[in-house]
Amino acid sequence: MDEKQIIESLQFVLHPKLKKSLIDIGMIKNISVKGGAVTLDLALKSERSPLRKVLVAQIEKAVGALPGVSSVQVGIITLSREEFEKIFPRAPLKGIENVTHFLAVASGKGGVGKTTVAVNLALALAQHGLKVGLMDADIYGPSVPLMLGITETLAQKDNMIIPKEKYGLRIMSLGMTASSNEAFIWRGPLVSKMIHQLFDQVNWGELDYLVIDLPPGTGDPSIAVANAIPHCSILMVTTPQEVALADVRRAIELFHKTGQTIVGLVENMSYFICSHSEQPIEIFGHGGGEKLQEETGIPLLGTLPIDLELQQGGDSGVPLLVSLPDSATSNIFRTIAKKIADQMH
Ligand SMILES: Nc1ncnc2c1ncn2[C@@H]1O[C@H](COP(=O)(O)OP(=O)(O)OP(=O)(O)O)[C@@H](O)[C@H]1O
Ligand SMILES: [Mg+2]
Repeated sequence: MDEKQIIESLQFVLHPKLKKSLIDIGMIKNISVKGGAVTLDLALKSERSPLRKVLVAQIEKAVGALPGVSSVQVGIITLSREEFEKIFPRAPLKGIENVTHFLAVASGKGGVGKTTVAVNLALALAQHGLKVGLMDADIYGPSVPLMLGITETLAQKDNMIIPKEKYGLRIMSLGMTASSNEAFIWRGPLVSKMIHQLFDQVNWGELDYLVIDLPPGTGDPSIAVANAIPHCSILMVTTPQEVALADVRRAIELFHKTGQTIVGLVENMSYFICSHSEQPIEIFGHGGGEKLQEETGIPLLGTLPIDLELQQGGDSGVPLLVSLPDSATSNIFRTIAKKIADQMH
């Protein structure tokens, strides 16, 4: 008896949904035969898969029926995400079929400037001649419309939502829907469904970049984005102080677990240049971004100052890259955007 016979015997053990043999779809691995003892591994999505019991029984029966087999030992291993997606390809998300790169702006902590960075980076990429969309995935507190001065609600065509065009960006936010002022309690499955719809039912069209503004933390929306777009890269925003770093570390860990690539770190509110002196004042301490870079190997792509014009740009709906494109801070955004574009190409 050899491996070939085992494989043949398993041709008739089918995946109940796919109706294809476990052998053909790659869910049987590591077959070994020693005398009459057969061991093999069954690769499942998770060890707790509801299919486990029934498939193990069918494998034992099929292999056990071969002449010369004295025992069958089925081990359970888990499929890597790539393997899983190869076996169970998902329906493509309609709205983003023609989007080349995805970049989500994240941080472990609230209020560190994610939205400010997402908005101005998206503008820097657009001013670089790229086609850029900006998706507000902060379903709890969408602030993209405010920062871009958008008050109109969204239009629909052919059952798809049309993103709003402004400052050369295509923008979509739940803050641009008629019910945006209603308090809504988002629970896990709903969050995931909503995020899915923002990719599937918004006609993003052809884009070089879709920049995604995530809410703070490591909650459902971040996981929903990772699930919907496994190849989405992440940009982490932090502030210099140690308390912010702890949260950022947790977020980095989450994105490692979901298998996302973290393209870099941006340290925001790093220093303040006072009008009376050239010397930067490090209000929130020093070196958080550098420390994280050393610890994690994730490159620090830039440090942004505390800039009152940047803040006013956010409040007035005319972002800094539009109101003062030649300012020192605007230049830093462009440098960061260039580094990201170079890396993601
Ligand atoms: N470098 C900066 N200099 C001055 N003000 C800044 C800077 N970065 C962000 N701000 C201001 O800090 C506030 C919070 O920024 P922002 O909304 O971008 O943070 P966030 O991380 O997206 O917050 P949330 O976690 O609530 O989504 C805003 O008023 C913004 O204008
Ligand atoms: Mg925000």
